[in-house]
Amino acid sequence: MIVQGKIALVTGAASGIGNAVAERLVEAGARKVGVVDLTDSVVAAAEQINRSADNDVAIPFQGDVTDSSFRQQVYSDLKDHDPVRICVPAAGILRDAMAVKLNKENGKAELYDEDRFRQVLEVNLMHPTYWTMQMIAGIAEHRAASDSGKWSAAEDIQGCSVIIGSVSSRGNRGQVSYSSAKSGLNAASKTLNVEGSFYGIQTKIIHPGFVQTPMVDQLPDGLFEDHLRKLVPIDRLIQPAEIANTVVAMIENPIISGPVWADGGLPPMT
Ligand SMILES: NC(=O)c1ccc[n+]([C@@H]2O[C@H](COP(=O)([O-])OP(=O)(O)OC[C@H]3O[C@@H](n4cnc5c(N)ncnc54)[C@H](O)[C@@H]3O)[C@@H](O)[C@H]2O)c1
Repeated sequence: MIVQGKIALVTGAASGIGNAVAERLVEAGARKVGVVDLTDSVVAAAEQINRSADNDVAIPFQGDVTDSSFRQQVYSDLKDHDPVRICVPAAGILRDAMAVKLNKENGKAELYDEDRFRQVLEVNLMHPTYWTMQMIAGIAEHRAASDSGKWSAAEDIQGCSVIIGSVSSRGNRGQVSYSSAKSGLNAASKTLNVEGSFYGIQTKIIHPGFVQTPMVDQLPDGLFEDHLRKLVPIDRLIQPAEIANTVVAMIENPIISGPVWADGGLPPMT
């Protein structure tokens, strides 16, 4: 689908991959880009994108992506005569810990915290799924209002969501919640792709490897340089702009269905 002239939104857009994707969508000619994030730095992020583009295209929205009324408000504020047609739900969190940890002093085993597991599922699995569903809903209603029925290949693609998975979707030590959420996105994206195709809407998934963002900065000191780097055939961290370029290529090329592995050749880690 051509990005030029479309309304897009990106969550997690104050930082890292989301920020790079929002910038790239503006460069590709999106008419408006909703930049969504929990932190108030989303306002400065939108200003920075607009300064670089010399155009007021980026619109900041500060809120929690797991809040359904916030989600509905963002979609309703962004739409005009046309609905949001591009969604990149990139907000995500790490809450890493071993699934079961034995306390050697007292011999008791502790399980991964259940509330933390639910929080990771809400942010990393339910949010990308529901923000994509909200886009599909807006396009479906728009088509119904103009008496357009089932999409036909004679029309342009009507919308596209690119969901951000992870190489951890293959399972990874210390990431029982994160890897479960990212793995679930494979099934969610396939399901939404099949259901959305009735309206000409595509949903795809990209699985990045280690990308140089604040999320990777949370890894223990030296872990990437001393241990992980040697596992990555390209022998370096991936840059957020490289993921952003790939995401926009996935949006613009209707024959890419995903999953796309953007991992520099990293083999499964388990
Ligand atoms: N960095 C990597 O190596 C890497 C690898 C694979 C996948 N990913 C995925 O890419 C996506 C972006 O990660 P990143 O590395 O850019 O991380 P990041 O920490 O730089 O950015 C994540 C952003 O999401 C926002 N966010 C978190 N919870 C939120 C909430 N509840 N509501 C609204 N915003 C919220 C944060 O404020 C932050 O700005 C995530 O889904 C992550 O799982 C990252």
